[in-house]
Amino acid sequence: MAPHDRLIKSWTANAAAWTDAVRSGRIESRRLATAAAIEQALLALSPARVLDVGCGEGWLCRALAAHGIEAVGIDVSAPLVEAARAAGGGRFELLRYAELADAAPRLGRFDALACNFALLECDIVPMLSDLHRLLAPGGRLVIQTVHPWSACGDEPYRDGWRLEDFAGIGDQAFPEPMPWYFRTLATWLADLSHAGFVIDQLQEPAHPDTQRPLSLLLVAGAADR
Ligand SMILES: C[S@@+](CC[C@H](N)C(=O)[O-])C[C@H]1O[C@@H](n2cnc3c(N)ncnc32)[C@H](O)[C@@H]1O
Repeated sequence: MAPHDRLIKSWTANAAAWTDAVRSGRIESRRLATAAAIEQALLALSPARVLDVGCGEGWLCRALAAHGIEAVGIDVSAPLVEAARAAGGGRFELLRYAELADAAPRLGRFDALACNFALLECDIVPMLSDLHRLLAPGGRLVIQTVHPWSACGDEPYRDGWRLEDFAGIGDQAFPEPMPWYFRTLATWLADLSHAGFVIDQLQEPAHPDTQRPLSLLLVAGAADR
């Protein structure tokens, strides 16, 4: 099976374990910094409507809804969308990134688009380019992802497919490892530029004790704004 198909399939197989890990606060980096980082980055934009792209079980939509923000989440995993709907706090749709462009007229425009650890595919430029159709004038795209220098580990600092076994969450309950595409900082910046975005802010949320970066957070706007 191609890495892309295996990646999509893994999010159905791992949905229950992922939902449990997120909701029980078992992902340390989230507890320490990254959950607050994306929430604060979005709140700082004072959006009325936010689209959570690859929303998973929906925690970010729920957090934004608590601030009176209209949150819509889309995800490819049916059990994750079901879990999100059951918990409420937003409107959740079963949708692949490749379907976003066609869904744009129905979904409407958003003041902010959030991608929290959800850009895992190899060629993200087409879907990032499609996101312009969903962005309100002056709106922003907020991406949080693994920090390339921390996530690189002992492998060469080079773009390529990697395999996540979720051992870092300390859980054996994830039945399927997830292929994901590692990209260097240079590739992140080039991909955003090729998709017609200009970066406004680059943040590196860090571990409060070690100060090592836990994620890379980018806020970008349309280049032609
Ligand atoms: C690491 S999880 C992050 C979930 C959520 N953003 C969060 O912060 O908890 C990645 C999510 O991206 C979704 N995803 C990955 N590729 C996708 C695609 N092509 N279309 C829609 N969703 C996708 C997965 O189903 C999964 O829910």
